[in-house]
Amino acid sequence: MSTNLFNLQLDHIAHLQRAYSALLVDHGFDSLAIYSGHASVHFADDHAPPFQAYGHFMHWVGLADVEHSWLVIQPEQRPQLYLYAPADFWHLPTHLPDEPWVEAFDIHFCHEKIAPPLTANAAVVGDIEQFTASTQKSLNATCQPERLLVALDELRLYKTPYEVACLGEANRLAITGHQAAQAAFNESTGELDIQLAYLAASRQRESAVPYQNIIGLNEHAGVLHYQHYDLSAPRHRYSLLVDAGRRFRGYCADITRTYAGPDAPAVFGELVDALHGLKDELVNAVAPGVSFVALHEKMHRLLADILVTHNLFKGSAEQAVAEGVTRAFCPHGLGHSLGLQVHDVAGLRHPDGTPAPAPESHPALRLTRTLRPGMVVTIEPGLYFIAMLLAPLRDSTLPLNWERIDQLAPCGGIRIEDNVVVTESGVDNLTP
Ligand code: GLY
Ligand code: MN
Ligand code: MN
Repeated sequence: MSTNLFNLQLDHIAHLQRAYSALLVDHGFDSLAIYSGHASVHFADDHAPPFQAYGHFMHWVGLADVEHSWLVIQPEQRPQLYLYAPADFWHLPTHLPDEPWVEAFDIHFCHEKIAPPLTANAAVVGDIEQFTASTQKSLNATCQPERLLVALDELRLYKTPYEVACLGEANRLAITGHQAAQAAFNESTGELDIQLAYLAASRQRESAVPYQNIIGLNEHAGVLHYQHYDLSAPRHRYSLLVDAGRRFRGYCADITRTYAGPDAPAVFGELVDALHGLKDELVNAVAPGVSFVALHEKMHRLLADILVTHNLFKGSAEQAVAEGVTRAFCPHGLGHSLGLQVHDVAGLRHPDGTPAPAPESHPALRLTRTLRPGMVVTIEPGLYFIAMLLAPLRDSTLPLNWERIDQLAPCGGIRIEDNVVVTESGVDNLTP
């Protein structure tokens, strides 16, 4: 790891210390305890699904897999990290990396699951609902103070240079996976083998991915959150959609690429190229002061142009938007905030913390903010052939080219997704 990254991390921790100190004073608390969370076993079993630490805990320590641990923050005091480290011969003992950030904390290794020592007027945040009633009571603090939580989310929306560097590295690692996935597709492998090629090249085990990779061949590319991996290769290769990420020091990449296969009609390859162009145009429109809702609406206008240019819609682009045709081809939002969570916090709020829900006409939009420097967002336009969404259009008199649409249906759909940071002067694309 480079010295530069370590120095950026120390600056990041100093920034959090200042920001938390001010927030605790503002909200009338003298300390805040943040619980890491812990995995819960499946019902009547002793195995648990993969665990991810609470975002506000990771914000400080960058460790995504730490359980049963606490971080206590007090204004003008060194952060106290109570790290669960049982004497346990079944597992590798908890240890911290030999990195400079560790020196910024007072570390307490705890052999038992503890409740941390709290000051008189403390707040507690995290997944504490599963504690016994007596443990919850022993915390003797204000649990989950809503206004403070909104403010902590708001703080996470703006990434420090350290966080941007981590997101950039997560992107670089993910892209090596995407290249391997494309190569595996060219070798006629199936979904599971593409997934395994992705994991191997991006150097991660499946339990560490920031979200379940979406690897859809052919019509599966049109299932927005396709959740299986077929074991064998299909007979025809129309298309491949890979929406797959990587964590780096807690921070997530979320990248999508779509490829035309040898059995696809030529127009599908042209549409993939057009969606790359659409993504680039939208990335270039990212800048401070831009409304993400307006950018989402711009996506629909540009998508309408593509439908008309490629003869899927025989009316005007304006009509395609006005009649909801583009929404049937792209039912999801243009993107979302990205950070320690793939769908990061505070996307649907105003800066003062009041709700800013998605517009009724675009209910799936996860980000309604005006873009500001330091925000990291995804830009992910899509174009899909989803029978369920196209059925109402088929029953209408709208001038769609059904012959062409039906020819494209076995290709499933297209999504192209990059991760970008809003800068003072515009945008930096983190996706190589
Ligand atoms: N990978 C989930 C998303 O793109 O939002
Ligand atoms: Mn995304
Ligand atoms: Mn994605």
